[in-house]
Amino acid sequence: MPLVSLRQLLDEAAKGGYGVGAFNVNNMEQIQAIMEAARKTGSPVIVQASRGSRAYSNDRFLYHLMLAATEVYPEIPTVLHQDHGNSPETCKSAIEMGFTSVMMDGSLMADGKTPSSFQYNVKVTREVVEMAHARGVTVEGEIGCLGGIEDGHGAGLDGLAHLTDPDEAVEFVHKTGVDALAIAVGTSHGAYKFNRPPTGETLKMARLIEIHRKLPNVHLVMHGSSSVPKDLQDIINRYGGKLKPTWGVPVEEIQLGIKNGVRKINVDTDSRLAMTGAIRKVFAEHPEEFDPRSYLKPAREAMQQVIAQRMAEFGQAGHAGDYQPIPLAEMAKRYAHETITV
Ligand code: G3H
Ligand code: 13P
Ligand code: ZN
Repeated sequence: MPLVSLRQLLDEAAKGGYGVGAFNVNNMEQIQAIMEAARKTGSPVIVQASRGSRAYSNDRFLYHLMLAATEVYPEIPTVLHQDHGNSPETCKSAIEMGFTSVMMDGSLMADGKTPSSFQYNVKVTREVVEMAHARGVTVEGEIGCLGGIEDGHGAGLDGLAHLTDPDEAVEFVHKTGVDALAIAVGTSHGAYKFNRPPTGETLKMARLIEIHRKLPNVHLVMHGSSSVPKDLQDIINRYGGKLKPTWGVPVEEIQLGIKNGVRKINVDTDSRLAMTGAIRKVFAEHPEEFDPRSYLKPAREAMQQVIAQRMAEFGQAGHAGDYQPIPLAEMAKRYAHETITV
């Protein structure tokens, strides 16, 4: 089937009461790991590329790898999503490339570092909604700021510095018409999220539940949702790595989020940890190896395993067969009948 819109996937997930992992990619092995995990578990999938990923891969390569994925895995409903678009121009270039969904992250200025004003965020997000919906493409916005920093993107804040205000979230959705809303409830990007096991209190789950109560029909997105499993940290450190002790987001908290409107769950760090551990192990145990396949194959398998586990935990497993792809042109017609209240 062709690439589908994020909106179709999230509407379906809301009907089924499950969440869908959005996994970051930079290369062929990562795309293959996700698609194979999707086939094994019968899951719909969201594959996402950051600006850094698009620059690293030269995004024409990435796009064509994704077309290959739809050919090789025709039974899997697959979304190609721009992660953390920093400006309307970035989102426009993704849409022109064939991405079926974009995130306009107007919670930060275009430098990807400075927290923005509410007015700025509404303005740029609305501009992207108008451009994207005319082509049937989905838009994710963000209100509140996540913690941490990844490849230069992020305010570098503590995850609690700019939590989402529930009333602002309502106003933001009404003024922009976004399909999905990323909220800040204490998570951060990267491996170093918490220095002790977080509880529902550390993670402001009550705030998430309040946002869902005020916006029951909006698909919520949880960024910074890697669980940073201890066993993956241990493999890296056993084979020469130097990760400091750290904790991620417990899967049970994500599952509580899914019961309360979270439909898209962003995971990148867990894949990075899985691949790096597997590569380090080959290098340490077989220093004579120099064929890239000798370490990229185990790396791909390790990523596939952690993703298949998340697909089962998020509840998307077994749902790939529920979809009749809706063409983007049909999505555009549906949006044309919607009005955004300003
Ligand atoms: O938003 C963070 C994702 O993990 C992407 O990271 O910008 O290093 O590709 P990146
Ligand atoms: P992690 O760093 O927790 O994997 O978060 C990834 C993310 O939010 C991508 O947008
Ligand atoms: Zn993110």
